[in-house]
Amino acid sequence: MSALLDALRTALGAGRVSDAAADRSRYETGWRYGKGEAMAVVWPSSPEQVATCLRICGEHGARVQPIGANTGLVGASNPDASGEQVVVSLERLNRIVEIDPVDRVAVVEGGVLLSQLNEELAPLGLMFPIDLGADPQVGGMVVTNTGGTRLLRYGDVRRNLIGVEVALPDGTLAGRLHRLRKNNTGLDFAQLFVGTSGRYGIVTRAVVQLAPRPRQTASALVAASDGTAALDLLRGLESSTGEFLTAFEVIGREALEITLRRGANLRPPFQGELPDYAVLVELSSTLDRDRLDLESLLEETLVAHAEDDPREGLVDVLVGRGEDFWSIRHQITESLREEGKVLAFDLSVPRSRLAEFSDEMRARLARSHPFVRFCDYGHWGDGGTHLNLVWDPAVVDGDPERLWGELRELVYTTCVEDFDGSFSAEHGVGPHNQMWYERFVAAPVQAVASLLAEHFDPAGMLRRRG
Ligand code: MLT
Ligand code: ZN
Repeated sequence: MSALLDALRTALGAGRVSDAAADRSRYETGWRYGKGEAMAVVWPSSPEQVATCLRICGEHGARVQPIGANTGLVGASNPDASGEQVVVSLERLNRIVEIDPVDRVAVVEGGVLLSQLNEELAPLGLMFPIDLGADPQVGGMVVTNTGGTRLLRYGDVRRNLIGVEVALPDGTLAGRLHRLRKNNTGLDFAQLFVGTSGRYGIVTRAVVQLAPRPRQTASALVAASDGTAALDLLRGLESSTGEFLTAFEVIGREALEITLRRGANLRPPFQGELPDYAVLVELSSTLDRDRLDLESLLEETLVAHAEDDPREGLVDVLVGRGEDFWSIRHQITESLREEGKVLAFDLSVPRSRLAEFSDEMRARLARSHPFVRFCDYGHWGDGGTHLNLVWDPAVVDGDPERLWGELRELVYTTCVEDFDGSFSAEHGVGPHNQMWYERFVAAPVQAVASLLAEHFDPAGMLRRRG
């Protein structure tokens, strides 16, 4: 170990390598899941230095755990329990190399924060359109394939990634930082790294596609009498305002009730009883308000939809106050966590089956685990639902691990097997979902992924243990 640290210090400088417990501990606990122990931590500040770290670690037979902003939700960004991994922190790899408004791309280092990039882009009337509550680094977003709340309009990272440069376990830098939106010359190298939890290499630079920043947005919170009414609304909005529809987020009654009670500075939006589902709708446009009044368009569309709906599924329509509505949306996760023990799921099913899935899941859980509160919310516009099961640990006897196992078994088999859904819609696989990956992902897909891991990382430098 001391020969390894000496070699890393010679390459990076003494201040960029540490095995002190105080330095390591910052990286050892995941934001939601994952707790491990690191051997040392290094802070490279250029792509070449990242590659050099990997080369040196390879020469010394050491395994590596890359870490970005530590905002991942599947335990994939922290060291395993072995105490044998060198943590490669990307926080110093944080330069915005170039922004090109004509190519409409940014070339950024892997450790650039989403907020940092968007602050730089705002004066140019541009944005990197992935939107979420957390503030991840771009490299982490690539290997997670981050989705977020505006995927409906702009797509996920996969759709907004043009090129990458990657430090590979053999200590080389590979990839191409091209700006070609059209390039049918064979396999897309950049896409090989998307959504792979960093298993094949560390993203050192990326070329990402930018979107024009909207000049106006209009928001509404709509009370829907049930999930079917929410889906009818989605269909109606897509047919009448499709090119402007940016977000379609749904919050179930229990999640809304807990968030309004526990969240900070939230005003109850609806008079009287909460609806089964609240739908946060956002339209946006690059057109100025004097050319198109988006708020009026949204209001008129919603009112017409409510009047024409034979099921009378829209109970209330509130237009405006976008900040208030997004504030509710972004405080759900933390509010549920304050309420009790939470088992959170990141699921997707075909959009047409979202309401049916919720009803069926709720009924099955009520029969098998009646003490669990069914809190669902999420990105219904793209089929995503973050089912959170919340319970009071004081009223549950028995082994918590066993309970977790039972709940996960029930929810995942219902979602994947009965509803043709996904056990990880946007958070990735990671250690948290590894056993479900092995069970539910088709064998030929797993075989190709293993071949790629063998190709890029034959010694298993980036492989986790446990
Ligand atoms: C969200 O959409 O709020 C998050 O992806 C959910 C979560 O943190 O589990
Ligand atoms: Zn989400």
